[in-house]
Amino acid sequence: MDGIVVFGAGGRAGRAVCAEARGRGLPVIGVVRDPERHPGLAADGVTVVRGDVTDPRAVPAGRWGVVQAAVGFEAGFFVRAVDALLAAEGVSRLVLVGLFADLVGADGRAVMEDPAVFPAEHLAFAREHAAGLARLRAVGGGVDWAVLTPGGELTEGPGRGRYVVGGDRVPEGAPGLSYTDLAVAVVDEVVVPTLRGARGAVWVAGCH
Ligand SMILES: NC(=O)c1ccc[n+]([C@@H]2O[C@H](COP(=O)([O-])OP(=O)(O)OC[C@H]3O[C@@H](n4cnc5c(N)ncnc54)[C@H](OP(=O)(O)O)[C@@H]3O)[C@@H](O)[C@H]2O)c1
Repeated sequence: MDGIVVFGAGGRAGRAVCAEARGRGLPVIGVVRDPERHPGLAADGVTVVRGDVTDPRAVPAGRWGVVQAAVGFEAGFFVRAVDALLAAEGVSRLVLVGLFADLVGADGRAVMEDPAVFPAEHLAFAREHAAGLARLRAVGGGVDWAVLTPGGELTEGPGRGRYVVGGDRVPEGAPGLSYTDLAVAVVDEVVVPTLRGARGAVWVAGCH
């Protein structure tokens, strides 16, 4: 593997993944839409390039572990991102950050489909996210992919502990994790895959 390409490198998850990967000495390319808005990345040793996750040409030639942590709010964003990443050359491993809302709750429904717990104003976004996962499951067979989905709240700040990876269900008590913990799990999953063609909830025990 030539290193890690991070989409959404200027965002909260993306920055944490870049820092974690750089801390391990891995070459990192951070893809952002406007490099001038993210000067700190280059200072951390990230090679910053301009690009868009919905453009397959944004992945450089080679054999890259690719992390998708970009967020768009336009209709079809997550499906277009998945389509581009599946079409791109140079992806040897693909790890995407998921959304708690599409984990499966105790009643067998996705969290987002329970109006008693999920705010209606976020439903459209959550369904867009879920559509990206559905697309991966439908057509991602030719790519070595995994989705890591926070098992609860995703918070800023330092690492909270050792993470656990589960399956499609909300872990008991919906424990969360920090972006720092998530980044450790994402880089681990890129470098030493444990999930292949699957989505797993990730959390830190006792973290709420
Ligand atoms: N509890 C949970 O389940 C939970 C909580 C929070 C987040 N998440 C998920 O975690 C992931 C990362 O979220 P985050 O909080 O890190 O988001 P964030 O801080 O809002 O960062 C998202 C980044 O995406 C970039 N972006 C937007 N459109 C792009 C495009 N077309 N191409 C490339 N980059 C683009 C933005 O870059 P610009 O600088 O160019 O605007 C921004 O830096 C998302 O999938 C999000 O849904 C899950």
